[in-house]
Amino acid sequence: MRVLGIESSCDETGVAIYDSERGLMAHTLYSQIALHAEYGGVVPELASRDHVRKTLPLIRECFDQAGCDAASIDGVAFTAGPGLVGALLVGAAIGRSMAFAWGVPAIGVHHMEGHLLAPLLEDEQPDFPFLALLVSGGHTLLVDVEGVGRYRILGESIDDAAGEAFDKTAKIMGLPYPGGPHLARLAERGRPGLYAFPRPMCDRPGLDFSFSGLKTHAATAIRPRLGDDQAMADIALAFQEAVVDTLAIKCKRALKATGRKRLVIAGGVSANAHLREQLKTLMDSLNGRVYYPRPEFCTDNGAMIAYAGWQRLKAGAAEGPGITVRPRWPIAELSAP
Ligand code: KG4
Ligand code: ZN
Repeated sequence: MRVLGIESSCDETGVAIYDSERGLMAHTLYSQIALHAEYGGVVPELASRDHVRKTLPLIRECFDQAGCDAASIDGVAFTAGPGLVGALLVGAAIGRSMAFAWGVPAIGVHHMEGHLLAPLLEDEQPDFPFLALLVSGGHTLLVDVEGVGRYRILGESIDDAAGEAFDKTAKIMGLPYPGGPHLARLAERGRPGLYAFPRPMCDRPGLDFSFSGLKTHAATAIRPRLGDDQAMADIALAFQEAVVDTLAIKCKRALKATGRKRLVIAGGVSANAHLREQLKTLMDSLNGRVYYPRPEFCTDNGAMIAYAGWQRLKAGAAEGPGITVRPRWPIAELSAP
């Protein structure tokens, strides 16, 4: 079965073709980062318009890359939520209409399920069941995963997502948007032990997260030292260690509670090298293993949507004829296909 996937939930237009026999045949990505950079964050209306401009050319490029055409497509997957309503509607309208025109089924994919299943695109993929830490710009979730659509939420952020905390802290430092990767790069030059950051919500039981306090703590440290490059690097390191430690502490607790031996990390922040290292050390110490997507599939992309869509389409799931999106869509509402 061959599936065309379209991602347009935020500021990246991603298109991919996944084939169940041949694997990923093509993927293309256009990032709107430069478009939104001067505003310091995503401007929804600009995002929608740019998806309109980029989606069809990217689909054509994907067909060229894969060396196939529309006649070979057996289904179309598009991100149906959560995300920016206008941006989602672009991918949904194009995807649903193409499927209709081609006489194949369409499926609306949950963006976080896309992230969650992205590690299954790699050669070394985890078997079910596993524990998943989803860390993106909009979500921080600890999920016990028994199979596709069989998700039990163990913990989530009660305020800022991990990526959001990275971005907001980076913005206070004057780093470009989105700040996560810039802050991580700056932290490489940081000297350890100079700034003390808390590990929020780790002194009490439970698996929820809170990162807004860390951001405030960072702001207090940053403001008097703005312009001092070495101080920014020192603070970046301390901040990153606090986020990573907090995530690792909760993962360890969740692994203990569930008895899982496999940990999957996905979403934009899973590209963070320090997080990967620390979770690898944790899993080594527990005789388990950590799995993650290649860096380009940690952040938003079409490949994960094509893959997650295939998982549901092959089980017979399909959308009705309408074009519908769900800007707010708790992942807990998903069920097995
Ligand atoms: O999954 P994603 O591409 O989009 C959402 O679904 O939100 O995640 C983007 C987030 C941004 O907050 C970005 O700053 C963060 O992932 N990010 C990182 C790194 N790479 C991306 N955060 C920390 N370290 C990184 N290396
Ligand atoms: Zn995402």
